[in-house]
Amino acid sequence: MAKETRSHIDISLSILKRFNRALSFDVYIQRTETSFTKIFKKGDVIDWERVHLYEEKGITHFFISAKEYEVYGQFVERLGEQLIDNSDRFSSEESLTLLRDLAQFTCHEMIDEMKVDERSVYNASNVVSGCIDVLSKDSKGVLSIMTMLSNQPYILKHSVMVSIFSVLLGKANGITSDTNLKVIGLGGFLHDVGVGQLTFDPEDTDQLSPEERKEMNRHPEIGRQLLDRVKGIRSEVLQIVMQHHEQPNGNGYPNGLRDKEIYHPAKIVSIADTFCSLITKRSYRDAFNVGEAISIMRESHGKFDKQLLELFAKTVSPKKAV
Ligand SMILES: [Fe+2]
Ligand SMILES: [Fe+2]
Repeated sequence: MAKETRSHIDISLSILKRFNRALSFDVYIQRTETSFTKIFKKGDVIDWERVHLYEEKGITHFFISAKEYEVYGQFVERLGEQLIDNSDRFSSEESLTLLRDLAQFTCHEMIDEMKVDERSVYNASNVVSGCIDVLSKDSKGVLSIMTMLSNQPYILKHSVMVSIFSVLLGKANGITSDTNLKVIGLGGFLHDVGVGQLTFDPEDTDQLSPEERKEMNRHPEIGRQLLDRVKGIRSEVLQIVMQHHEQPNGNGYPNGLRDKEIYHPAKIVSIADTFCSLITKRSYRDAFNVGEAISIMRESHGKFDKQLLELFAKTVSPKKAV
């Protein structure tokens, strides 16, 4: 897959308030698409008055050089741990910003740097736990999470969205155990981790050549193999990653499994996966609305578990008879 070659990555200054000490990296604002100006340098303490002046001028995005992203990532990782240990110490806005930056750092590690290891999976599981917490505390949690993801790269948006919609369907399906919901959420977050290893970017087109299709069909197995090397990862997560493109009618891949052979949580993630793709704008088409997405999925007979799909339709449009 074409790796991102961003020279600068956006960060949240509000996160740095938590550290209240000298910066260990330079901070930039964006002037044009390709030029950035340094506003604070390594060793500075952030001058918040100056930040407010920038914000008043409509400058709300701040950046770090991609070369120094790792240092910022370490800040975010530690805060992510604190959020999971004691979310009451964070306002809901802070939690969402932190989850966005932790998800961004995790995707950068896994997809751009191809580091799928204990550390990145641990960070992914903290993103999932944080999102589950937001969903349980905030009735508009889905909307809040989706808003915080706007303007983010597709793979980041997709990973988090599939994770939260999988958790929602899992809950609607009667799964109450926190551990099981986290397994589904993590399977959702990691389901496409193998896509990072492809030689092309499948998000650029809906028309794959036969060679690209063949390669694409290997991403569940590639993802499973990458994760299989991670110490302590649960086998349920591997099964979800491996089977998220299987279909009850036997037309899925990689193994053409049929209905009862497919792991139930993988059927849940499969529905969330297609739904999230459909409701997201792509480079080659506009986003479908929720009703349109559900109709399209209903029309693809046998691709999804029928009962789960109807449950999902009710879950995402609870007030309408869809
Ligand atoms: Fe996939
Ligand atoms: Fe996907």
